[in-house]
Amino acid sequence: MANKVRIGVIGVGGMGTFHARYLKAGEVKRCELTAVCDIDPDRLKDWTDIPTFTDSRELIRSGLVDAVLIATPHYDHTTIGIDAFQNGLHVLTEKPISVHKADCEKLIAAYKASGKVFSVMYQMRTEPLCKKVKQLLNSGELGQIVRINWIVTDWFRTQAYYDSGGWRATWKGEGGGVLLNQCPHNLDLLQWWFGMPSKIRAFCGFGKWHDIEVEDAVTAYLEYPNGATGVFVTTTGEAPGTNRLEVAGDRGKLVVEGGKITFIRNEEPMLEFLRTCPRGFGKPAVWNIEIPYGREESGHKVVTQNFVDAILDGAERITPGEEGINSVELVNCMLYSTWTDSTVALPLDGAAYEAKLRELCATSRFEKKEVKAKQDDIASSFKSV
Ligand SMILES: NC(=O)c1ccc[n+]([C@@H]2O[C@H](COP(=O)([O-])OP(=O)(O)OC[C@H]3O[C@@H](n4cnc5c(N)ncnc54)[C@H](O)[C@@H]3O)[C@@H](O)[C@H]2O)c1
Repeated sequence: MANKVRIGVIGVGGMGTFHARYLKAGEVKRCELTAVCDIDPDRLKDWTDIPTFTDSRELIRSGLVDAVLIATPHYDHTTIGIDAFQNGLHVLTEKPISVHKADCEKLIAAYKASGKVFSVMYQMRTEPLCKKVKQLLNSGELGQIVRINWIVTDWFRTQAYYDSGGWRATWKGEGGGVLLNQCPHNLDLLQWWFGMPSKIRAFCGFGKWHDIEVEDAVTAYLEYPNGATGVFVTTTGEAPGTNRLEVAGDRGKLVVEGGKITFIRNEEPMLEFLRTCPRGFGKPAVWNIEIPYGREESGHKVVTQNFVDAILDGAERITPGEEGINSVELVNCMLYSTWTDSTVALPLDGAAYEAKLRELCATSRFEKKEVKAKQDDIASSFKSV
């Protein structure tokens, strides 16, 4: 086994350029950027000292790369990912792994047949705060979970943002709106922390605040196999917005907001107290605890380094690509519930969802307006919980 991974970045728009620059700067160990690809030749002009391609199939077959990092619009993650696996390459894809569940399954099948490494850019999993929440939940510190509420309305985007990329905010180009573009990170964390719900009822507003055809406002109700309930609220049309996660458990309440983790711990288990306390208005006494967490390096580069380490040393992947199907299924369920005005039981029927999405793509009357604003530096879009 070679001691260096040769990597090609496919799609050097906002995000791909960010990845290609830190790779080029040697900020990921034992990894070398050996090619870039974009269907838009203008995007390749800055990359003069390495081979460039306008067709991903040529880069994949060039013999110049062992792995690809895919940072194209969402639908292409599936086709390019499958092509890469079928040609013996490792794949790190930007989120989401695909637009819909049936495509995720095809990509995962190609991965499994290849024996190669598959990771997805869910860099929030590397953040110390998110890791601490995971540790608290896994250790059983909260006891039985009874309620989860996550308000994530701080994904504010202007109309100029939506007008800045031809593929954005269309069923045909992007396949969804706030759920599929901004929220995959949150929904990945939700399933990483709490597992998958068994039922979802959602209410999505399509072009509620922006002149777009996809969803930009969502309220979803989730039910978990143990009876816990969840509410997930998001929008790109609210400022200043809120980012607050509240988890009620038998042993207390966890609140994550403003970069702080607060645990209001019940001195006695609440459910036992509820059954046995002789006083009608009694309540368990509580301790207020601010939970500290570390400050180690986190973010995109950590995921890319882990991908390289998984290829070279078999390191455990932080963000296994195949787990990317879960956030896509949550997105699909929320949209499908709205379209059918009904509660969706999981697992979702991926074929039925794909058929409905195809219908929307085919009948889409949405005319993309001329590009009005250049997109800001991509790094200004990154945020933590
Ligand atoms: N992980 C994160 O923090 C994060 C942040 C922003 C965006 N993203 C993701 O990165 C991806 C790209 O988003 P962006 O904001 O950079 O979009 P963008 O429009 O700025 O860039 C996409 C680029 O892909 C190119 N492209 C399109 N189809 C192609 C194809 N078939 N082959 C090669 N190149 C192709 C386009 O010409 C463009 O340059 C999306 O999946 C998005 O969700 C992730």
